[in-house]
Amino acid sequence: MANEQMRAYWATGGKGWVEHRDLFDSELAAFADAVLAAADPGPGDRVLDIGCGTGILLAEATARGASGTGVDISPAMVEGARTHVPAATFAVADAQTDDLSEGGPFTKIISRFGVMFFDDPTAAFANIRRAAAPGADLVFVCWRGPDENPMFTMGTSVLLDRMDPPPPPPDPTAPGPSAFADRGRIESILTGSGWDDVAIEAFDALCDYGSEGSDGVDERLTMILNTGGGRMAQDQLEPALGADGWAALLDDVRTELRRHLVDGTLQFDGATWLVTARNPA
Ligand SMILES: C[S@@+](CC[C@H](N)C(=O)[O-])C[C@H]1O[C@@H](n2cnc3c(N)ncnc32)[C@H](O)[C@@H]1O
Repeated sequence: MANEQMRAYWATGGKGWVEHRDLFDSELAAFADAVLAAADPGPGDRVLDIGCGTGILLAEATARGASGTGVDISPAMVEGARTHVPAATFAVADAQTDDLSEGGPFTKIISRFGVMFFDDPTAAFANIRRAAAPGADLVFVCWRGPDENPMFTMGTSVLLDRMDPPPPPPDPTAPGPSAFADRGRIESILTGSGWDDVAIEAFDALCDYGSEGSDGVDERLTMILNTGGGRMAQDQLEPALGADGWAALLDDVRTELRRHLVDGTLQFDGATWLVTARNPA
């Protein structure tokens, strides 16, 4: 079966996203706004959200009068989306291999950070295109590389440095948050899967973790522990170090994050690509 590793990862990883839905959605709000501004869903649109997570994009699209369908490989995410966004329809599906046509053909296909996890991205975008109406718009955001996103490594590196053996450097094109960092790769995936009018623009937005008197350090730590690197480190180190040792290591992470406060809060620019394309008419 395709995407076995990511299916397993998100089956459990999705639970953390559901539990901390408000935190993820507030830190990533600017990127949802960018997708919605570019896609501009409205009455008469049938919107498909790929890797929909807990459904924030469809909450907004349906509020604007569109119909909404979300697909996600993670049952936990789909359950969370159904709870939070009753106006849309959600299905557990692998967007690379499953038939996505239910509720279509779709006039707008959107995603916030949900399309970088495919074993075969060209096959995935060809499959997604099969559910698209002629002339449909595709709009998504994906992360640029760790070199432009300091939040990917800051704090997480404290955890990874303690692992034995240390994890090997990730393959930059392996399924994961940075798999679409190379804009040339995105372009060849989309043209190779039959999409036209591909446009890829840098979109940067501030992620400010501070709120209501918090400096944002614990909020960022929560997010780190719900990323691939954070979870991998916790799986190995928490049992090995014991409760006190693990708590001490988390304090080291907090200390590292506090070194980067700006005006009293933890804040970073998130560097993404805003990608648009069209299904041929
Ligand atoms: C980084 S999360 C983003 C979730 C949501 N779009 C958001 O912005 O809150 C990536 C999502 O993609 C989903 N995903 C990963 N591989 C997938 C696949 N092959 N088909 C459908 N969804 C997938 C994951 O389960 C996860 O919910």
